[in-house]
Amino acid sequence: MSTLDRPLRTVAEGTATRLGGGATDDYISFCRAFRSLTRIDLGQYKRGQMERRVRTFALRGGVTDLVAYARTLESDPVELERFLDRVTINVSQLWRNPQQWSLLARDVITELAGGGSIRAWSAGSSYGAEAFTLAAVCKDAAATARVDILGTDIDKRMVERARRGWFSADDARDAPSAELRRWFVESGDGWQAKPELLRSVRFDVGDLLRIEPAKGSYDLILCRNTVIYFSEDVRDALHARLAEALRPGGYLLVGSTERVSSPAACGLESCLPFIYRKVA
Ligand SMILES: C[S@@+](CC[C@H](N)C(=O)[O-])C[C@H]1O[C@@H](n2cnc3c(N)ncnc32)[C@H](O)[C@@H]1O
Repeated sequence: MSTLDRPLRTVAEGTATRLGGGATDDYISFCRAFRSLTRIDLGQYKRGQMERRVRTFALRGGVTDLVAYARTLESDPVELERFLDRVTINVSQLWRNPQQWSLLARDVITELAGGGSIRAWSAGSSYGAEAFTLAAVCKDAAATARVDILGTDIDKRMVERARRGWFSADDARDAPSAELRRWFVESGDGWQAKPELLRSVRFDVGDLLRIEPAKGSYDLILCRNTVIYFSEDVRDALHARLAEALRPGGYLLVGSTERVSSPAACGLESCLPFIYRKVA
């Protein structure tokens, strides 16, 4: 989907939504207006957490009425940009959670490489650190396999940044030094992915809540640190759709503090706390 390049539409809900008993809910009205503006549906995210974030951000400019704040976002692209930074939370880094990458290389990548090619999806890829790390890990653990990695994110600005394959020194703070130097070159005050990595990854804008990937099309899906913002129902439905997108014997990797709530119902079995295998 596109966000900032989409022509801004008039905020449809000029007044707050009326709830039963005459109460008003400017947060729901804000979510509707924001969805028409950006196509991002904040209603699918955990309300308590997201509403707090939205209100705190609006309040820093002195705005307490979220319907008025939606109008501000509609007319002020700079504020919209800042707000998107706030709500999408793009935090990432190369080799984030290093222990996950070691286990993935040892227990998953080497097995997948037996098939001669690895087709992977970094779902919620932010600015690409996860997809580039995966490319490097695959090339080290499975040198002869063809590696094709798709990264998707709802935030168009992050996708554009990901395509450049450049990461700051801070992004590389936990990266193992030998691997970093093997697959990246120092550039400015950061690291540029080498052409071999750039050839293995591609990025697209995509909303995980709308995307309908072809069934059985991936050997490996990484969806880490992204569903934590979704309500539980939305998260579980997404995990089920990600499981459908895996081929039998394929793997789903979630964040180190996350889990799939009912793996068997999605046709998955748990191999390690954060790695699931699609049952054949
Ligand atoms: C904290 S980052 C995680 C990046 C990476 N997976 C990692 O673990 O380092 C979460 C990303 O999810 C993206 N995101 C949030 N909602 C999304 C949605 N509905 N569809 C696609 N991406 C989404 C955000 O834009 C953000 O870049």
